[in-house]
Amino acid sequence: MSAIAILGCMWGDEAKAKIVDYLGDTADYVVRFQGGSNAGHTIVVDGQKFVFHSVPSGIMYPGTKCLIGCGVAIDPLGLVKEIRNLEASGLTFTKRLCIDEKVGLVLPLHQELDAVNEVRLASSKIGTTGRGIGPAYADMTARTGIRLGDLGHPAYLKQRLKELYAYHGQSLDAAALREVMAQLQEAWKVLKKYCMSVENVLSEAYISGARIIFEGAQGTLLDRTWGSYPYVTSSNTIVDAVGIGSGFSARLLDEVLGVFKAYVTRVGEGPFPTEIHGPLAEQIRKQGNEFGSTTGRPRRIGHFDAVLGAYSARLNTLDGIALTLLDVLSGIEDLKICVGYKLGGKVLTTPPAHPLDFNKIEPMYLSLKGWEEDITGVRSKEDLPANAQIYLEAIEDLLEVPVKVVSVGKERDQTFKIDV
Ligand code: IMO
Ligand code: MG
Repeated sequence: MSAIAILGCMWGDEAKAKIVDYLGDTADYVVRFQGGSNAGHTIVVDGQKFVFHSVPSGIMYPGTKCLIGCGVAIDPLGLVKEIRNLEASGLTFTKRLCIDEKVGLVLPLHQELDAVNEVRLASSKIGTTGRGIGPAYADMTARTGIRLGDLGHPAYLKQRLKELYAYHGQSLDAAALREVMAQLQEAWKVLKKYCMSVENVLSEAYISGARIIFEGAQGTLLDRTWGSYPYVTSSNTIVDAVGIGSGFSARLLDEVLGVFKAYVTRVGEGPFPTEIHGPLAEQIRKQGNEFGSTTGRPRRIGHFDAVLGAYSARLNTLDGIALTLLDVLSGIEDLKICVGYKLGGKVLTTPPAHPLDFNKIEPMYLSLKGWEEDITGVRSKEDLPANAQIYLEAIEDLLEVPVKVVSVGKERDQTFKIDV
């Protein structure tokens, strides 16, 4: 038996799915436990690219079952499309996908509310993915939300929809209600065969000694409580969310692996202490193809931030680091790692809680020499250029967590393990 959580540790897009895929060939189950279609998880195999939003990326391996736990917010119409598209690229779902009946639904209403909120916020907008995630989670907390299992009870669903629209002060005349009901019933025809208790499936899996991977979405700094609030997503993303969002207690995990890029990116608004602009940012964005897989937005780029990295390592009780996109740093003469923040004459080694302070901090950097060599063909730590090894070890020392996996390219095989 082994249960491992693979979590994004910064602001998302750390190449989590690539690591899930790399370690997932022998997994019996891959489980999503939070987030929704705001996630954009990309896997490249033999040049073919697969993008997942709500479906766990374990669907790539025919022997693996994929579970969507109750902590996920599902857009039923979008999920049906995602399943159809993935089926068209040759992946199979029959008897392999389970969605918890308690997952909250993201409805077209939530997507409209998301867009309206962003317009209302104007210059203080969050820069959401526009997928309706914030309003959908808010409704689950307000107890006005609709859950997947409700789709099997049309009269109850109708009542809940009326109450939901009234709660938001939105009109829902008979014709509009019929249309929403029709859309949801279409989706239910496809989704009902996957609807079950994920907690039950996981509890049996645990007893039978199955190998389970929990696939995080977003990242620790987007956690709705622990991230750079209010510029965060609306789910909890840290390791404890595994239990809340799947019914499999985080206490039962054997390992927690944190995924970090060798530099930092962020999409959307909000503080970013080590952000850089100009030619170096352009170079990294181009080399790393740093454009969102959900929205296509160019990602903001920055130096590795060991203050936030250590914070994330602590919150998630990391056992190991998966360091990704290391190849993108080839050819950069001077590399910088942020090791502290200056704020009002003081030096901080933990992030400030208040957003106004976050904007005022001045990063303190450690400078390291870069390397010239293309490392996309390297498959062991010893074969990395000496300066790349020093860079990797600096991250280990600053975060006090060993690097266990390194990714040096998009392809599945451009990855290697380090024995610790
Ligand atoms: P993966 O799983 C990167 C960001 C958005 C915005 C904030 C709130 O691919 O790493 P939301 O739509 O969630 O209400 O937006 O969170 N965001 C992500 N950034 N990767 C993601 O997912 C993200 N999901 C949300 O850009 O700043
Ligand atoms: Mg993403």
